[in-house]
Amino acid sequence: MQIQENIPLRQYNTFGIEVCAKYFAGFSDADELAWLTEQAGRDEVIVLGGGSNVLFTQNINGWVWKNNIMGIEELGEDHSFVYVKAGAGENWHRFVQYAISRNWAGLENLSLIPGNVGAAPMQNIGAYGVELKEVFNSLEAFHLREKKIHTFTAGDCNFGYRESVFKKELKGQYVILNVNFCLRKQPVFHTAYGAIQQELDKMNINSLSIHAVSQAVINIRSSKLPDPSVTGNAGSFFKNPLVSKEQYAGLKEKYPSIVGYENADGMVKLAAGWLIEHSGPAEAVSWKGYRKGAAGVHAKQALVLVNYGGATGSEIYDLSEQVLESVQAKFGVTLEREVNIY
Ligand code: EPU
Repeated sequence: MQIQENIPLRQYNTFGIEVCAKYFAGFSDADELAWLTEQAGRDEVIVLGGGSNVLFTQNINGWVWKNNIMGIEELGEDHSFVYVKAGAGENWHRFVQYAISRNWAGLENLSLIPGNVGAAPMQNIGAYGVELKEVFNSLEAFHLREKKIHTFTAGDCNFGYRESVFKKELKGQYVILNVNFCLRKQPVFHTAYGAIQQELDKMNINSLSIHAVSQAVINIRSSKLPDPSVTGNAGSFFKNPLVSKEQYAGLKEKYPSIVGYENADGMVKLAAGWLIEHSGPAEAVSWKGYRKGAAGVHAKQALVLVNYGGATGSEIYDLSEQVLESVQAKFGVTLEREVNIY
């Protein structure tokens, strides 16, 4: 195993930010990870998967470890499910495509999400009406201090909206090694969300399949979200904020076109993209399509901040701060960042 020094991280983060890590190493199994923990001692450590949910604002004066644990394995099946284990370092979309090619259902709505398998439970990824927790069975994670592997059930992970125990109580303590999924032999289609049905109609799909749903999701995502290999970004920069029904009613009266969805516990999830689109810097009415230097707000989805090439992490962060302040000032709603800032 090789430890490299002063390594540029540009290719390891989808925002394409140019910072350096003092020490950099990849690991392919728990033994290599255990060895690295010995080397690092008490130094700062950042574990990277696909680098699709991070914003680096400065050089890393410690270690960056890249999770390269690979492999997809069918563990068994019962009447309804196939149980499949995937290494945390597998590319998420490649795993989704593999499942679809084997006719294993459940992942199709989560097509084309950037990043790796290990990040999926970390933040309970979700899109188009489906969340990771619905296909999750268990995971194995390495406890950095104890140097032991622990198994987590769905209950242990305490999944919430873009949340899990690994982002909260256990933050920084574990490295996810592999994830076990329960995938359906018979698909249950989720086509009610957003423009999926409309896209399927446009595609002239008469008999529904997981392949068709996946393609519809790919088409919608590609039309709205910037391709990180072309324009640096980390998907939604903020979470959709939750407000009370009363606050929503007040906002709706003042701004009839505001977008919100009532959830099971009586709160309303506001579309942060709408809030950002309908607020702006002093010199413009909307943030949508705003650009200052190489940092900007995506023109087709205001929830996504972009690096047009050469922006620093601080420039992107400052823009996010301005967006946050203007949404707060106009709507009295506090946005929370979804992206991890280092
Ligand atoms: N909207 C606007 N203006 C915008 C963007 C959105 O008015 O600039 C409105 C849309 O018209 C729509 C609503 O907001 O009525 C929701 O928009 P969209 O369907 O694009 O989804 P989102 O709520 O903005 C969330 C996830 C995405 C996920 C999509 C689809 C979060 C933080 N983001 O975005 O996830 O792909 O739903 O399910 O929950 C990510 O997490 O990185 C991500 C891309």
